Amino acid sequence: MCGIVGHVGPLNSINPAGAPGSGRSLEVLLDGLSRLEYRGYDSAGIALVRPDDGERLTVVKAAGKLDNLRAALDEAGPAPATAGIGHTRWATHGGPTTENAHPHRAGTLAVVHNGIIENFRALRAEVEEAGRTLLSATDTEVVAHLLDLDFSARLAAGEAGTVGPDAAAALLVESMRAVTDRLEGTFALLAVTELAPGAIIAARRSSPLVIGLGEGENFLGSDVAAFVAFTTHAAEVDDDQVLLLTADAVTVWDAAGNVVTPNTWEVSWDASAAVKGGYETFMDKEIHDQPTAVADTLLGRVNDRGELVLDEMRIDPAVLRSIDKIIVVACGTAAYAGHVAKYAIEHWCRIPVEIELAHEFRYRDPIVSEKTLTVAISQSGETMDTIHAVRHAREQGSRALAIVNTYGSTIAREADAVLYTHAGPEVAVASTKAFISQITACYLLGLYLAQLRGNKWPDEVADYLENLGKMPAKIERLLAEQEDMVRELGEQLADQTSFLFLGRHVGYPVALEGALKLKEVAYVHAEGFAAGELKHGPIALVEEGLPVFVIVPTPRRPVLHDKVISNIQEVRARGARTIVIAEEGDEAVTPFADTVIRIPAAPTLMWPLLTVVPLQIFAAALAKARGLDVDQPRNLAKSVTVE
Ligand code: AGP
Repeated sequence: MCGIVGHVGPLNSINPAGAPGSGRSLEVLLDGLSRLEYRGYDSAGIALVRPDDGERLTVVKAAGKLDNLRAALDEAGPAPATAGIGHTRWATHGGPTTENAHPHRAGTLAVVHNGIIENFRALRAEVEEAGRTLLSATDTEVVAHLLDLDFSARLAAGEAGTVGPDAAAALLVESMRAVTDRLEGTFALLAVTELAPGAIIAARRSSPLVIGLGEGENFLGSDVAAFVAFTTHAAEVDDDQVLLLTADAVTVWDAAGNVVTPNTWEVSWDASAAVKGGYETFMDKEIHDQPTAVADTLLGRVNDRGELVLDEMRIDPAVLRSIDKIIVVACGTAAYAGHVAKYAIEHWCRIPVEIELAHEFRYRDPIVSEKTLTVAISQSGETMDTIHAVRHAREQGSRALAIVNTYGSTIAREADAVLYTHAGPEVAVASTKAFISQITACYLLGLYLAQLRGNKWPDEVADYLENLGKMPAKIERLLAEQEDMVRELGEQLADQTSFLFLGRHVGYPVALEGALKLKEVAYVHAEGFAAGELKHGPIALVEEGLPVFVIVPTPRRPVLHDKVISNIQEVRARGARTIVIAEEGDEAVTPFADTVIRIPAAPTLMWPLLTVVPLQIFAAALAKARGLDVDQPRNLAKSVTVE
């Protein structure tokens, strides 16, 4: 939650003939913030520094979305800067006001922060006792003052007035180390000071932070989206590292104060992947990205001998053969992807699979051993609850496999192995293409384990892979044939106040996901149920005209199919308006359906890759018909980096 971005360019640059990257910190920060706005949009702000004699540190901030900050900047008209830091906020300490917006200023410096400082009350008392007046309710402002108190003391210890910019930057590095050593909780912190206008000083513990390495300029961001328009060369930041960025150097110190060389990588996303590309919203665009997301996640997984290979699988095959249980830890949509995985992996591999909401996992003393494989699913790779679940599982001796979309993220780095989904950047808060690619990656994992453990013959694995390979074209066709009708349905039902979603088998997690999509983007009450559970209570909710979505399994699985047909009849008999998602040619549903959404045939276990798509389209259309911002729903943030 919260997005932070930093840029530092050459000092000699505040003139039109300056070096590349010069004086453009404001441009970089605004571009970065617009790409990070999905992480929080309660307020936004920037701090800019420049080396001349005028105003050397400028802070501009505004409550509300980034456009409000742009308007405030138009009014303030800041001069070109050599370095700057920016922030887009999801409020934790203190409401979403301009006062609480970052950056927070203290003395000569300004600070942005993502995370939560748990001991901030004691530290606030200390800062106030030192004579500082705090203007906000945030934990971050306390950190800004702590930094400034320490920094001022170090400056005063030198000869008055003789500390040049390089020495000031070095002293602020020391202050950053001293202050962060005292902080409890999580943070990615960036600081600039007018005494060192060519530098950013940063630190990280358990909140995301990555470095962007440019030509004569350098960048920082909560994720690579912050700087991908300017450089694709990125470097990792580990916990408890402190950094000094200048235009031509990045210095990283580890917790012991040693200079270390960070791991670097090339970002494969290009900036155009994170723009709307002609669609009205990111959610629309990402729904349409889904055929490519599935295809890309499947890409390059089969060797010359037709075997499934997962190059990233760094866990010893002997260990994978010996596991007797899989626990999937994840939150929200990612947990529903794990729920689908349970059906597939148990069926293919005969290994019990438990699904655990990551935030419940470590608090219930779970039974985990060396024979447990923990699978963490996360689009961002930064969900704090999931990070803690991975850490807890590993402490108990379990190997952790991450299914993650964001390269270099914390979960990817802390797990024993990573299976990357190749969905590209997902910007809309509501997860769509990430869900589908997570399910695809889970299928790959299941088939890989089945192949390795001998549960399936090679030709069986090859058959499944062939069927998976056909899914992108089927999603494409489904979009082409059903999108308009589903959109119209969403518009027609925009005034409804309640919806039910029913499914059996793999249709059950899809029902849960359909309800979540509607809740989060349209703010409508919606519940997903296992269809068989209906008679055990939820059917009491059914009344005249209540829209009920029912995901019907293929008629080629009559045991499942016929039971769901009975469930449709049960709700219809009580006045429900039934919206049925059924396979093409399944005429058994027709007499009981007010609306039928037709889906191309596919193997039962792969059905979620198709059935979820109309539910995503429906939620987006209904929300738009209500005049809502589907990309940035109220109260939410894309990446939940606090517990
Ligand atoms: C779903 O639309 C939400 N964005 C949310 O449930 C999300 O899936 C969850 O917070 C997990 O996020 P992650 O995949 O980044 O870990």
